Amino acid sequence: MFSHRTALVREPNALSQALARRAASGLSVLDLTVGNPTRAELPYERDGLLAALAAPAALVYEPHPFGPLAARELVAAMWDELGFAVDPGRIVLTASTSEAYSFLLKLLCNPGDDVLVPAPSYPLLEHLARFECVGVRPYTLAYDGAWFVDVASVRAAVGPRTRAILVVSPNNPTGNYVKRAELNALAELGLPILSDEVFAPFPLARPESAARSVLEIDSVPVFALSGLSKLAALPQMKLGWITVGGPEPLVEEALARLEILADAFLSPGAPVLAALPRLLALRKTTTASLQARLERHAARLTEAFRDTTVTPLPIEGGWYAVLRLPAVRSDEAWALGLLEDEGVLVHPGYLFDFEGPPHAVVSLLTPEAPFEAGLARIARYAERATRGAPGARSNGASQA
Ligand SMILES: Cc1ncc(COP(=O)(O)O)c(C=O)c1O
Repeated sequence: MFSHRTALVREPNALSQALARRAASGLSVLDLTVGNPTRAELPYERDGLLAALAAPAALVYEPHPFGPLAARELVAAMWDELGFAVDPGRIVLTASTSEAYSFLLKLLCNPGDDVLVPAPSYPLLEHLARFECVGVRPYTLAYDGAWFVDVASVRAAVGPRTRAILVVSPNNPTGNYVKRAELNALAELGLPILSDEVFAPFPLARPESAARSVLEIDSVPVFALSGLSKLAALPQMKLGWITVGGPEPLVEEALARLEILADAFLSPGAPVLAALPRLLALRKTTTASLQARLERHAARLTEAFRDTTVTPLPIEGGWYAVLRLPAVRSDEAWALGLLEDEGVLVHPGYLFDFEGPPHAVVSLLTPEAPFEAGLARIARYAERATRGAPGARSNGASQA
């Protein structure tokens, strides 16, 4: 009766089961996977945000497929600050970045086609593609002291039905920005590029070679994705946007087709659209505090794991950190051990398709106290787990 695309594994994995057992026994957890900024003890301009949502325009329905021009002009003004002159007519407002992906996959792919996705990366990409009856073909993000796009693996991944290349910059969870040279190499393949830039406003050690946006490319159709979820730490407001770039006739055709798609949904709600100027102005209190936390936590990682068997990998930007762990057990076993023996919750690397040695992913959004205590416990646990174990220090990571 039901479609293949919704036939996903639903049984809780070993880690979720262990977490449920802990909760049932009343045991506490130091959660280092906090991804929801509204639950991360960040300061919000509560009164101002609530007042903004009560604007009289919230009561008026004026549907436009791409969203009201005034709201798109605000997005265009942010592009201007980044040095890109973007016509608001090339901006499409959506309910979220996820919805933006779904529109773009509908725009570019027929059922049975596929898109190239980075690995390791954001696990939702595979699901979002699957829901459009689109397959994914992974290309490799490799690590040699820094993460980079293995361009040869991108070329090798292209198949007869490949319709687009997906890029996440900076990537979740490896934190690397796509570099200008990498983007140029991808563009040479002639496929449209979808670039998820939701974490771009959160640089940590952003190299000069990083592209500012996929909009730097003009030889193929490009689609930059972002939204309030990360930019303003307001995922509950449900507003994202697509910015279209590339060769003129293809941009026009893409916009004409996106208009039909967006017109069928008219997703963004009037309250968030009316509130947008205030939401963007008021975000600074929250994002300044968030950025300071990301920077403190990134520095703390180096301290916490100095002279230990755990290697925090360098982070160029974004909200996540990757820990490379000694190759004495799988990353699932590491995550289970940390939870059961130390009460620390991390994401196991396999969720993101890491290759090679075991990895754990922690969120830099985690509030101060649990983050600090959690890192100390990970370091202690790793010492205990690897003491005397052969290969404990040969985890393959650069110790530099
Ligand atoms: C890379 C990436 N893109 C998009 C999103 C989701 O954005 P939205 O809430 O706008 O759908 C996330 C959320 O974690 C993400 O990590």
